[in-house]
Order: sequence, then C-alpha cells, then structure tokens
Amino acid sequence: MKRIPESVAAIVAACAAIAGVPAMAQEDEGRWSIAIHGGAGTLDRADMTPERDAAYRASLQAALDAGKAVLAGGGSALDAIEAVVTRLEDDEKFNAGRGAVFTWDGTHELDAAIMDGRDRAAGAIAGVIGVRHPIMLARKVMTDSPHVMLAGEGAEEFAHEQGVEFMPPEWFDTDARREALERMKAEKLSALDVDIKFGTVGAVALDTHGNLAAGTSTGGMTGKRWGRIGDAPVIGAGTYADNDSCAVSATGWGEFFIRVGVARTICLRMQMRGEDAQTASDAVIAEVGAMGGDGGVIVVAPSGDAVFSMNTTGMYRGRATSEGLDEVAIYGDE
Ligand code: GLY
Repeated sequence: MKRIPESVAAIVAACAAIAGVPAMAQEDEGRWSIAIHGGAGTLDRADMTPERDAAYRASLQAALDAGKAVLAGGGSALDAIEAVVTRLEDDEKFNAGRGAVFTWDGTHELDAAIMDGRDRAAGAIAGVIGVRHPIMLARKVMTDSPHVMLAGEGAEEFAHEQGVEFMPPEWFDTDARREALERMKAEKLSALDVDIKFGTVGAVALDTHGNLAAGTSTGGMTGKRWGRIGDAPVIGAGTYADNDSCAVSATGWGEFFIRVGVARTICLRMQMRGEDAQTASDAVIAEVGAMGGDGGVIVVAPSGDAVFSMNTTGMYRGRATSEGLDEVAIYGDE
C-alpha cells in the first residue's frame, strides 16, 4: 500500500508554517502520547503479594519505556505499538504469546490485530499456533497481503512464507495457565471463574507526525473450544485506529466487546458527537457492563489525551506523554 513519505509530510508542514498556520498546530508538532494495557479483571490488593505487584509494575514500565523510546525518537506510532506488544508477548505474566492461556485441547491459539490511523490499514490473525509474536504477523498481514484477517493454518502458512519466527508448543506453556485449565475441567468451571484477569495486552499511540495506531494481542479465554475467536483481532471491536477520531485497544470478555463494537463506537462518539476520550470510553464500557460483560479500554485521542476506562476492579496499565506524564497502575482506584 502506498504511503506519503515523512519527508513529504515535513515539506507540507514547513509550507503550512510559512503560510501562517495557527500557533496551535505548531505547538502540537513534536507531541507524542502512548497508553498500554496488560489485561483487566478481578485485581484486588488482598490477592497480590508485594513481590507480584512489583513484578507486574516493572514489566509494564519496561514495556511503556520501549514505546516511549520509539516515540521520543520521532518513530512511528506503529513501531511503538510493536515495541510494546512484542515485549509483553514475551512476558509470561500476560495472556499473549508466551504465557497465553490453554485451549480445551491443551494448545495455545493466538489472536492479534494492528491498525494504522493514517489510512485505516489493518491486519489481524486469529487462532494461530506457534507464532512467537502474533502482533508482528498481524502487521505482515497489513503490509504484505491484500487481506485484513487470516486465521488458523492459512495464517500459519502465510507466517512461514513471511519468515515469521515460530517457537515449539511448550515454549508457550506456563504452570499457572495449565493449573487454570485443569481446575476448570476438574471443577466444571467457566473461563471467567479461572481467569482471574483476562490478561490480553495492547497499546495505542500518537506519534510526533500526528499519526495514531493501535494493537492488541491475546491468547483468548482459558478452555476455549471450537475455534473460538475473541474481540482482539476483530477490527472495530478490540482494536481500532483512525487519525480523525481515536485509537483504542480493549481487554475483557470478548463476546461482549464484539457485540458492542467497542473500539469503533468509542471513536465514532468522539468524531460524531464531539465527546472527549474519557466520556466516550466510559459510556461504551457502561454499555458493555449493562449487557453483562466486563473489561476495559485504553484510548489515545488526536489531541494526545491518553485515557483508561474499565468496569473491573483493576487493569494492568500505563501511559506516558511528551509533556512528562509517565505512570503505571494496576487497581481501579489508582
Ligand atoms: N478480550 C480477549 C478475548 O476475549 O479473547
């Protein structure tokens, strides 16, 4: 897909400056913003040791730092998303890549999506086994295929053709996720009973060129069967980016996020109703809650506002801006 080179964008910006474009546009030049998440769910202080709390915060800060470094260096929002999400995919505390939940059959079926707010180009993969970095494969679908979403064996064949890295099945296994599956089967529980948090990972960013992007990656829900796909790879549900409205990555009970079309609805409310990111996000998450679903979103607006919204007791999250905001948090009251 043809893109406008950044050198051309710089010439256009220079011409605009000579022509006397309002001061606001000049002030926006160089502004960047990023928000990340590592899943939302039942997260209570009483269930967390100080060591686990610190370990999650360190992982979130390291991922946030990776995204910040890209953006502060003038890199693209897409590259920042990839830097954050690949790091979280390799971190077994999160339900994406290594550490993904087990399916009913004891495998790990991975979903991911990425979207470029410049032109709404998007790539997604669903139900893929063995790919180390599903977000990178989703980006390949966006840049190197004529399609938006590839699933299962076909997506794996495409991944091999693209030279994407695969890992052996056991590389994705963790004791905590295996115990969750075993408990689910033994006690005839639902995924919601054993997934104390959903654990999907994601990032949204605004780069210094004024472009938005979003990306999400997940193993889905423990014990999933029949090729179940969640919201993460569904463009407009778990992932969405459009320079004219916003960038969103969601985490939560995917079936509800698909039915509400969460990510696209938030952006539409901002674009059509003029709502700010927090108002639009809170309204749509309330809609999810009213239907019986739970989870949360991270949103970045074209203005650089980076917000969170959730109806769970916590969400692993972080945000940073060129204006000095730099924080990670876990519980809803932080
Ligand atoms: N939100 C992730 C999933 O439902 O699969």
